[in-house]
Amino acid sequence: MNLKDLYSKSTAGMKTSMIREMLAQTKGVPGMISFAGGFPSPATFPVNTLNELFQEVVTESGSDTLQYGASEGDNELKKALISWENVSLDTDELLITNGATNGIYYFTRTLINPGDVILCEGPTFLGSVVSFEASGAEVISIDMDNQGIQLDLLEDKIKELKSIGKTIKFFYTIPDFQNPTGITMSLERRHDLIKLMQKEQILILEDDPYGELRYSGEKVKSLIEIARNEYNDKKIVTTVKSFSKILGPGLRMAYVMADKELIKPMCSWLQKVIVNPEGVTQRVVAKYISKGYLEEHIKSIREFYKPYQVAIIDALTKYMPNEIEFTKPEGGIFIWLKTKKDINFDELFSEIVKEKVCYIPGSKFYPEHYEQYNCLRLNFSYPTIEQIYDGIKILSEKIQTELSKL
Ligand SMILES: Cc1ncc(COP(=O)(O)O)c(C=O)c1O
Repeated sequence: MNLKDLYSKSTAGMKTSMIREMLAQTKGVPGMISFAGGFPSPATFPVNTLNELFQEVVTESGSDTLQYGASEGDNELKKALISWENVSLDTDELLITNGATNGIYYFTRTLINPGDVILCEGPTFLGSVVSFEASGAEVISIDMDNQGIQLDLLEDKIKELKSIGKTIKFFYTIPDFQNPTGITMSLERRHDLIKLMQKEQILILEDDPYGELRYSGEKVKSLIEIARNEYNDKKIVTTVKSFSKILGPGLRMAYVMADKELIKPMCSWLQKVIVNPEGVTQRVVAKYISKGYLEEHIKSIREFYKPYQVAIIDALTKYMPNEIEFTKPEGGIFIWLKTKKDINFDELFSEIVKEKVCYIPGSKFYPEHYEQYNCLRLNFSYPTIEQIYDGIKILSEKIQTELSKL
């Protein structure tokens, strides 16, 4: 029996393995400058404080935290999150999950019947597309501009889909320092998006792993803050927030803020999959917040990443040919490059790798049938500042050579 014949087909799943195969070409190559990853820098993990807190929690409350716990999450952590957040929340409007990925999965499982439509930004985070497609949803992406999702295109698509009897369940967005583009949705666009979705009766799923990583400019209110505080609407926006890019992805700690009617079925999915979120870690994160460490730590991460953000924007401005457009994110860890010229960055990948530089081709961040090939994603939290300048120079020269062939 060939077990591969039994696998269920998920094209987004295939894209993740394509990325893995592409990156395998770059692993262990001496001198390789990688802009491909999406990992936070381990230098930002608060190792010593977490070490102390893990010991403290196991010593103080091991018999409680090492036991099976509540599926919806630890009350101590919920209390700490409620005091941390800028929206008023009840404990039954919170679900603690194993990373944002896990929360996004339960939200999707709760809402999607095969054939339902999920709308998202194009490009978007591939991990979520994988989860959406695995639920049997049809995933449709809508182009963005530098203010975020293009609402006129979104509205037209909704009309078109409704006219052919499609059920659109939700719109998925990463409004702050989006993965992969680094774009932040403007405040005006956020208001207009909420109003449009209220009119169309389509839920919004807000994924916010990067919002705290702001190195310049002013914070923009989150969609859930706007919906709850300014429109008194608790239902329209569900928000998933993760500690992966703040404390370390190995903790697998995230939380969902939603109407309690949604939290209940999501919790019942969680119960089937993981029984309950990990007890000791939840209590450690609760202490990290309630002892006031989180605020200071976020300040230090912002200071840590800022020089990398400044360096990559400076290097791109210095070296990239004029035909190449790039985003100038005020935070996060990604930058997006695109060109109107006919360059296929999937095809160019192997050539660039020979020059010891790598990126992720933009096509990998679109749902199936919506791929664009004239774009790529650069990560700036992994290479050193020196590598950023060297790598961008090499990439720019290679792109210039390609442009001169057109
Ligand atoms: C937009 C986005 N959402 C979710 C995740 C996954 O986060 P977590 O580690 O909390 O599952 C990532 C990770 O890269 C991401 O970029």
